[in-house]
Amino acid sequence: MLINRISASLLLILMVAVVQFDTQIADAVDVHPVGALCADCHLAGDATTLDNAYELIDDQGVLCSGCHKDALAVAHPSDFSPGRSIPADYPVDWKGDVTCSTCHLVHGSKRGLIRGDKYGKELCLSCHELSFFSRMADTGLSIQQVGHLSVSKEALAVPVDDYSLHCLSCHSDGAGGFLVEVDMSGNVRHNGSTRVAHPIGVDYGVAMERGIDRGSQFRPVAALNKKVLLPNGMVSCLSCHEGYSEKHGALVMSNAGSRLCLECHDR
Ligand code: HEC
Ligand code: HEC
Ligand code: HEC
Ligand code: HEC
Ligand code: HEC
Ligand code: HEC
Ligand code: HEC
Repeated sequence: MLINRISASLLLILMVAVVQFDTQIADAVDVHPVGALCADCHLAGDATTLDNAYELIDDQGVLCSGCHKDALAVAHPSDFSPGRSIPADYPVDWKGDVTCSTCHLVHGSKRGLIRGDKYGKELCLSCHELSFFSRMADTGLSIQQVGHLSVSKEALAVPVDDYSLHCLSCHSDGAGGFLVEVDMSGNVRHNGSTRVAHPIGVDYGVAMERGIDRGSQFRPVAALNKKVLLPNGMVSCLSCHEGYSEKHGALVMSNAGSRLCLECHDR
């Protein structure tokens, strides 16, 4: 049954490839990625077959991020050696690495181009033990629906990036007893603590320029620790907290001696 389904979908791909070859009108082909040339990814170009399809011109993270810039920013790790065996339904690439096509059928057509029939938590548990998630502060709830934190929720009155909206979808309701809100001035209020309200949604570059007039100073973006993210240039929950991680809610770096604060604030 499974074999039949796989070969049927492969046949479709090959037929589509032939159609494309014949007409040379790439964007008339209704297979993801619509409009791209075989040679953009496959060494064999138009002569790509089932046997040589694994020979790609670069790592998939590189090939795919041309069109999916955000897919790697806050996401499940990709293009790495798993160092353990994973189910054959989720194949590693020729180097033995977990990569995009481990979870995705690149030329598929199902929702999310996901391999097989499993979604959400069920998909995660194909490769991870339940204990992997029960160790997490939120038991994995915040990451099990997606391979990538780029889903946006309803907007707020103040500008906030999609990742912060994802966090707020639980914490503005007080998830886990931790109520976190964004007030009308765009300040994050960690209500569970006495910590200062901190702005989010602020454009870091603009704040830097404004700071020069006010005598406050910020370090240049290029000098910041790579884990301090500024989605679309904006201060976000993910500037201070990890997003897609085993350590739910952990700070991106220790704040001992105000290190995290001083990563951006020069004084
Ligand atoms: C954006 C990059 C990209 C483009 C463009 C692309 N492919 Fe692929 N293709 C892949 C990746 C990645 C795989 C999975 C490789 C692996 O399994 O190691 C794949 C797999 C395949 C397979 C194996 C069956 C499968 O679905 O896994 C065939 C056949 C194939 N591609 C044909 C083509 C043809 C023909 C074209 C042009 C019409 C094309 N591809 C365009 C990236 C691409
Ligand atoms: C030439 C641009 C382009 C490239 C290269 C590309 N994609 Fe896409 N991809 C798109 C577009 C456009 C969509 C949305 C429309 C669609 O579903 O076809 C999309 C959709 C997707 C989706 C989501 C489908 C859904 O239902 O939500 C996944 C997953 C995906 N791509 C994975 C990949 C992977 C993995 C690679 C690399 C092997 C890749 N893409 C390379 C353009 C591209
Ligand atoms: C461990 C599994 C896994 C790996 C590895 C993975 N993804 Fe995904 N990806 C998912 C899941 C799960 C979804 C959500 C699918 C759904 O429910 O519609 C998803 C969704 C997407 C989407 C849809 C838009 C979004 O951000 O939600 C894109 C685009 C995408 N993946 C691209 C990629 C690319 C490019 C790579 C490699 C760099 C990759 N994925 C590696 C599991 C994975
Ligand atoms: C195809 C197998 C596979 C699937 C499916 C999969 N993972 Fe993973 N994941 C791995 C491997 C391998 C690692 C490396 C660590 C390990 O061996 O557990 C990993 C690592 C991780 C990490 C650690 C990242 C870090 O460095 O902090 C998280 C978090 C994670 N996975 C979450 C998920 C979630 C959530 C899902 C479902 C959306 C999922 N995984 C689906 C194979 C998978
Ligand atoms: C699906 C709902 C959900 C989402 C989305 C979510 N969280 Fe949580 N979070 C929880 C729950 C539940 C807890 C409770 C943990 C406990 O009971 O100790 C928690 C706890 C925390 C903690 C405290 C951790 C600890 O060990 O004390 C931090 C920090 C945190 N979350 C930050 C974030 C950030 C940042 C985001 C966005 C990247 C986010 N959360 C997204 C549900 C969520
Ligand atoms: C400027 C940095 C910064 C930003 C931005 C930020 N946080 Fe925090 N957050 C912290 C620090 C520092 C702590 C204290 C952590 C500790 O003591 O281990 C904290 C603690 C928390 C806690 C634990 C409970 C509490 O109130 O102490 C939660 C939950 C949390 N943050 C969620 C969020 C969410 C959701 C966002 C985005 C809406 C966000 N944070 C934005 C720095 C930040
Ligand atoms: C990702 C970079 C970044 C980090 C990390 C960061 N800040 Fe900020 N902070 C900013 C930006 C940008 C502003 C906005 C300045 C403006 O609006 O002109 C700001 C504003 C503030 C303000 C408001 C006063 C003002 O200058 O407008 C305070 C107080 C503050 N931060 C304290 C902290 C503390 C305490 C920490 C550590 C827990 C911290 N910040 C971590 C970037 C950061």
